[in-house]
Amino acid sequence: MIFLKKVVRLMHPVYFLYTKIFLYSYKNIIRKYSFNEVFLGQRGNNYNARCKRVDRCKKIKDQVLLIVGCGEGADIEGWLKFKPKKIIAFDLMNYDHIWKVKKEFFFKKYNIEVDFFQANADDLTLLQDQTIDIVCSDAVFQHLNDIDSVLLELTRVLKSGGVMYSAMGPLYYSFGGDILSGNNIMSEGFNHLLLNREEYNSFLDVNLKKDDPRNMYFQYDLFSYLRTDEYIKKMTKLNYINLYRSCIVSKRTIGFKKCFPGAYKKLLNNNNEDDLLIESLTLINEKY
Ligand SMILES: C[S@@+](CC[C@H](N)C(=O)[O-])C[C@H]1O[C@@H](n2cnc3c(N)ncnc32)[C@H](O)[C@@H]1O
Repeated sequence: MIFLKKVVRLMHPVYFLYTKIFLYSYKNIIRKYSFNEVFLGQRGNNYNARCKRVDRCKKIKDQVLLIVGCGEGADIEGWLKFKPKKIIAFDLMNYDHIWKVKKEFFFKKYNIEVDFFQANADDLTLLQDQTIDIVCSDAVFQHLNDIDSVLLELTRVLKSGGVMYSAMGPLYYSFGGDILSGNNIMSEGFNHLLLNREEYNSFLDVNLKKDDPRNMYFQYDLFSYLRTDEYIKKMTKLNYINLYRSCIVSKRTIGFKKCFPGAYKKLLNNNNEDDLLIESLTLINEKY
């Protein structure tokens, strides 16, 4: 086991170089969207790496953080390690029983207050104007069915000079962008874009069991249906200053293109190839 770990560590620079060379073939995407970085798969882009990136743009220590769509709170601890003054976290769904336990645990371990509450991000009346230093969201923006109202509300509570960090994905037009297609079979990765309404509903019936937690996304239509450039334009329209921008190129889209060229060609009739390839975006912006 130790030997294997050493081999993996030794191979890392080779893999790193390989991905850099490979990603060079996507230089047009990099230029078009002014990405600072492009990743192939999740490597180099985990929670910890993303928190560090935010910290490089704006020091997290002693700041008030607002975590949007925190779910059960899996993304909170990553931020606590940077010693913020306080964390306020909320979700559309109520996870009170879990939040209560986590709040106590975090306070004992980090001596930092974490306040959880249930709310829709488009109505945060509990929070006053310009009281937040950093707004953070992981895997939420692609699930907002009224992203314009949410962005306005988050901008209201964010201080001028504050930072909005959002990592989002899978994006709807990429492989598995409906969080279901292609989970089991690669050929089904773009079912949400290739099937007609009736066929897609039958696909959902077969693949989405009654107790599957993903049901809520379909039940409440929690998808923003935005394309890569639309997310970026929304931030620019609100006068945000771009501090950092990156994306993940989907290995699964590349695999699909190789294995199913006919279906891929069909996808290109209605979609820009960038949107099929870009599975995830990270945007770090400063409020003007
Ligand atoms: C994919 S989960 C991500 C959870 C968590 N951020 C994480 O990374 O583990 C998306 C979350 O966004 C929440 N969400 C969707 N729309 C929302 C809204 N309008 N206001 C607040 N939360 C929302 C969902 O309830 C869900 O918990």
